[in-house]
Amino acid sequence: MTQETTIQTTTIFQPVQLGPITLRNPVIKAATSEGRSPEGKVTQALIDFHRGFIEGGIAMTTLAYCSISKAGFAAPGEILMVKENTSGLKRFTAAMHEAGGKASAQLGHAGPVATKKITGVQPIAPSRFFNLTSMQTCRAITIPEMKEIINQFADAAEVAIEAGFDAIELHFGHLYLVSSFFSPWINKRTDEYGGSIENRTRFAKEILLAVKERVQDQLAIIVKLSMDDGIKGSIWLDDSTETARILDETGAVDAFELTMGSSVSNQMYLFRGETDIDGMANTQKGIMKLGVKWFGRQILGEYPYEDLYMLSSARQFQTVVKKAKLILLGGINSFDDMATAVREGFPLFAMGRALLREPDIINKIKVNPSKLGLCIHCNKCMFSVFTTTNCVFTKDYAISSQAALV
Ligand SMILES: Cc1cc2nc3c(=O)[nH]c(=O)nc-3n(C[C@H](O)[C@H](O)[C@H](O)COP(=O)(O)O)c2cc1C
Repeated sequence: MTQETTIQTTTIFQPVQLGPITLRNPVIKAATSEGRSPEGKVTQALIDFHRGFIEGGIAMTTLAYCSISKAGFAAPGEILMVKENTSGLKRFTAAMHEAGGKASAQLGHAGPVATKKITGVQPIAPSRFFNLTSMQTCRAITIPEMKEIINQFADAAEVAIEAGFDAIELHFGHLYLVSSFFSPWINKRTDEYGGSIENRTRFAKEILLAVKERVQDQLAIIVKLSMDDGIKGSIWLDDSTETARILDETGAVDAFELTMGSSVSNQMYLFRGETDIDGMANTQKGIMKLGVKWFGRQILGEYPYEDLYMLSSARQFQTVVKKAKLILLGGINSFDDMATAVREGFPLFAMGRALLREPDIINKIKVNPSKLGLCIHCNKCMFSVFTTTNCVFTKDYAISSQAALV
């Protein structure tokens, strides 16, 4: 038995306050794009998928990537967070509450990660930018469009309240639209949204304040923030700690979920573990498929997996962030990892792949704290986001319940 298991499960699985809400324990299911919303709406398959995590012992599940507009979609089968979809979303939150847990909605705009094939329009970025992964040129967003997007974030937050969500998570990571503003690699603007880190954080701050004004204290606000993009010339900890300080100072953030890496390039920097080239190639056709087979490893990168691989970066935020709580993410796969997170001063933690592999891992750990997670970080789940997100060992094939609920 290691040092960490001397911390009792009863010490860790205690209620935690997150802004205006109380979680029954510190475990949050991290967003893992579901692909269970073929018409942008909630389906029974989506509800069943998330209820499994709540029944398995976590405190709050995150409804992954809910796009604030059709132009903001990143992958097929994502939720469109607009008023017309409120009734399905209400059924979603009711099911999570009935199962004893809470529900968070991740709100975002994919920006340079979006593709015309999915959205029907040319993707946008802070300035003109060529995305080598999608082989698409993004056009520069205009200031009136930015104002519209700020309103769309606030509207989506209002939909979340109406639908009964307990929290929203603003997606300010992975070089989606908002975090691409942080990045000097993508953001070449010369106006008040480019240049200094204050300027590159301005759009995020405006979105955050507009959302806070709309939601007040009716739900918790989490910001998913990239600490380090893993790309030369993009952001690293010196920039991201400053962004966190600026956003924290507003008092509008209840917690930062600290992430890293990007969906634009070097994707394995976020995931670590096996680089599934065949999995990525199978999402493409013709010459693109061959291109991925030949150059996929250079584009995706290759990094060994270790438990708690974001911990040393996340520690850098502990002295900078004074008002919000910090959520530790990345490679939490056992009770020892959770105990380390708590011992290191992180009051909350989020888990992605370990829960895809074993939705009931928390219930199992409560009975047997020495139990190790079964996830082997093969990353075959990564490319299932283009169909129906699943761990290959636990595929649910819930096709019959894919019909959209309105
Ligand atoms: C299949 C899959 C889909 C994901 N989709 C999202 C997503 O929609 N939004 C997001 O912010 N992160 C997404 N992620 C990243 C996770 O939230 C998490 O940051 C990452 O997997 C690291 O945590 P883990 O080691 O606990 O898996 C996804 C990860 C996986 C494996």
